[in-house]
Amino acid sequence: MLAGIIGGTGQMGRFFAGVFEAAGWEVIVSGRKTPRTNRDLAETADLVMVSVPIRATVGVIREVAPLLSEEQVFCDLTSLKVEPVRAMLASRAEVIGLHPMFGPGAASLRGQTIVVTPARCSPETLERLLSIFRDQGAAITISTPEEHDRMMAVIQGLTHFGTLAKAEAIRRIGTDVAETLTYTSPIYRIEMGLVGRILAQDAGLYGDILQMNPEVPKVLGEFEEAVRRLREIVESRDAERFQTFFTANAGHYASYLSAATEETDDLINHVVSR
Ligand SMILES: NC(=O)c1ccc[n+]([C@@H]2O[C@H](COP(=O)([O-])OP(=O)(O)OC[C@H]3O[C@@H](n4cnc5c(N)ncnc54)[C@H](OP(=O)(O)O)[C@@H]3O)[C@@H](O)[C@H]2O)c1
Repeated sequence: MLAGIIGGTGQMGRFFAGVFEAAGWEVIVSGRKTPRTNRDLAETADLVMVSVPIRATVGVIREVAPLLSEEQVFCDLTSLKVEPVRAMLASRAEVIGLHPMFGPGAASLRGQTIVVTPARCSPETLERLLSIFRDQGAAITISTPEEHDRMMAVIQGLTHFGTLAKAEAIRRIGTDVAETLTYTSPIYRIEMGLVGRILAQDAGLYGDILQMNPEVPKVLGEFEEAVRRLREIVESRDAERFQTFFTANAGHYASYLSAATEETDDLINHVVSR
């Protein structure tokens, strides 16, 4: 079987080229500077996978969609799913949206999650693709493009926004990060680790995750309101109001609290023992 990865010269494209090769597939790739073009891949591969920057994805899908037949599988790795899947459905191919919930630094698929949004495919085609990922240790979460993007607005949008807002606040305050680390608690070190981890990466990916998901503004509106309300409670110096706020949240997260404590204890012990 032949997999054609458009954007296969990039980070995630290279990772998935390795996944298909490990499953015994032949892999060909295209980028904007490769001898093979996106068109060559669309005309020859059994499975065409799009792995280009989020902003470029729909344009690239539109470019190749008319070239695909019912015999081919069209999939993508985009961190958003509604628009790419809609664009892929304009082809005649079987369509399966994918979102690997990890970065290209992962050692393998073992223990990693891939969210899958099957849009138009036979059960056999879906199983053939998913078994490649499962055989290499991945966990599969089946979803719809709409539900995926709503979830990502929280899981990635809110999380990355919060991390970047914290980075900006510390910068604005003028605090020297290296100096704070000499006063550090393990939790602060972990939190700053997340700030540093994002800022060491590609601004384009994080910008697109925040700016291209239409579900993100609603979530950020709630975040802004939460910050405003919490700030007002803090500045009121009213212990009872703070207690009420805290208890309401502890109640919402009740079923998660012991697992959260256990997992972060592990992280803390790891950070402390380094
Ligand atoms: N990185 C992550 O942590 C991560 C995690 C999960 C999902 N994803 C998803 O994976 C996809 C790719 O991300 P990435 O991090 O691998 O990006 P990347 O490293 O920047 O790779 C993107 C590739 O696309 C190529 N490209 C750009 N425009 C193209 C076009 N018009 N035609 C063909 N190729 C084109 C680029 O090569 P040239 O510039 O040479 O053309 C590059 O090799 C994105 O949709 C992203 O949402 C990324």
